[in-house]
Amino acid sequence: MKFSIKKICCIGAGYVGGPTMAVLANKCEDIEINVVDINPERIKLWNSNNLKELPIYEPGLEEIINKCRGKNLHFSSDLENNIRNADMIFISVNTPTKKEGIGAGQASDLTFIEASARQIAKYSREHTIVVEKSTLPVRTADKIKQILKSANKKNPNSSTFDVLSNPEFLAEGNAINDLTEPDRILIGGESKDAINSLKNIYLNWVDEKKIITTNLWSSELSKLAANAFLAQRVSSINSLSALCESSGADISEVKKAIGTDSRIGNKFISPGPGFGGSCFKKDILNLIYLCNFYGLREVAEYWGKVLEINTWQKNRITKIIFEKLFGTITSKSIAILGFSFKSNTNDTRESPAIEICHQLMNEGANLNIYDPRVSLQQLEKDLGLNKKYNREKEYFNSSWKFSTDSYSAAEGTDAIVILTEWEEFKYLDWELISSKMRSPSWVFDTRSIIDFEKAKSNGINIWSMGRG
Ligand code: NAD
Ligand code: UGA
Repeated sequence: MKFSIKKICCIGAGYVGGPTMAVLANKCEDIEINVVDINPERIKLWNSNNLKELPIYEPGLEEIINKCRGKNLHFSSDLENNIRNADMIFISVNTPTKKEGIGAGQASDLTFIEASARQIAKYSREHTIVVEKSTLPVRTADKIKQILKSANKKNPNSSTFDVLSNPEFLAEGNAINDLTEPDRILIGGESKDAINSLKNIYLNWVDEKKIITTNLWSSELSKLAANAFLAQRVSSINSLSALCESSGADISEVKKAIGTDSRIGNKFISPGPGFGGSCFKKDILNLIYLCNFYGLREVAEYWGKVLEINTWQKNRITKIIFEKLFGTITSKSIAILGFSFKSNTNDTRESPAIEICHQLMNEGANLNIYDPRVSLQQLEKDLGLNKKYNREKEYFNSSWKFSTDSYSAAEGTDAIVILTEWEEFKYLDWELISSKMRSPSWVFDTRSIIDFEKAKSNGINIWSMGRG
């Protein structure tokens, strides 16, 4: 049986569901795509006439939304009808780490996946292909199949199903490029026809050579494996950054020397304040849980070290700032430049900045925080609401203040800490900044991006990651 896909429903209008379906709609004009979400606020923002209000920031996204929304791309809270009418349903809901119960702190919380499967089981009609887009523990497709099957038994009008795994590899801040020109598309499944139906959609813009098909379990595991490998590279270079600082080697030179070995490659070996983002930590925790579940203790411990180094790197940065500022930062003013977990996104989930800011505030520092894309509301969510409102429309609390640019953030500070590699931080006017800071002034550049010589020539002390 061949399935021609005319209508797609995507459950979950988040960082994956939104951009993925936008690109799909742009590339496949004859497919109608409905993105649904249980969060009506999010749907409202996706439908906003003001494209600056879209719930996520991704370069290039606004243009595609502007082109496709209302034509073959729709955002809605109507799960029932959109599930009922779909030939293919993508599940793009969140899969956070479980907070309570068995496996808490490691295993994936599959509540939202199960709820999606139950909604599909309840509302689908005729044959439906269900696609796992979310990142999932290996063998989740089994659970989804069981839920869908049990609905079949109860409801004679209900649909029949195929389940595919099609993990998403986009990186935030580069999502539109990653989706438009992916390195590969991975499809795991049992039914050749179902696999081909999904493959045919991607063939609208992706070269067939880039489409890899596997069994379900390899596909599910490969997503976890890819994130674990990427995170491991970051922890590897971060561990060496500390060794460089102690030994007099320079991490940028080491990075060049190892990155030119084509077997190692130069990507994903930039040192920093530790990896953040919603996925690396949770996916490695999930991998660790799976390894322990299958009795592979040594393997679990191996991946655990990648997370350990990541936490250590954040703590190490706070300690360095503390020591360089004469062993006390109580009542000192520190500017934090960059709060998102990487540049070109407004996402702060698991951002190293959250932990580092908390640690600095625990030591009594007053922080001026500036990020080109992170809002005051988001900072309040991440750092706490304890603030006063002042007439000059600046927001204060005893420990942190929201700044609208780098220069006002630097005003009266003893130190600047650069935590995100935003392009604008490369071109800061160090003469102006130096005139605003209290002496002796320090810059802690955890991303090694500033113009080192210019800052230094303006009398600022500099600590740069991996350089000491
Ligand atoms: P997100 O939190 O931004 O979005 C998930 C959305 O699903 C939310 O808006 C939520 O309201 C909605 N939702 C939850 N349960 C629902 C239900 N039963 N019915 C309808 N909507 C429901 O999450 P995200 O960042 O888009 O990640 C989604 C999945 O994709 C995760 O498994 C993640 O690991 C994976 N992933 C994320 C990225 C990334 O860059 N963020 C990249 C690749 C893979
Ligand atoms: C990552 C993967 O790159 C995607 O392929 C994957 O789809 C996604 O996770 C996911 O599953 O959610 P993302 O977290 O958006 O994407 O961003 P990355 O570019 O991977 O960066 C992750 C973290 O590592 C950031 O904090 C970044 O600053 C840090 N990083 C990255 C470094 O410190 N050094 C590097 O060289 C690269």
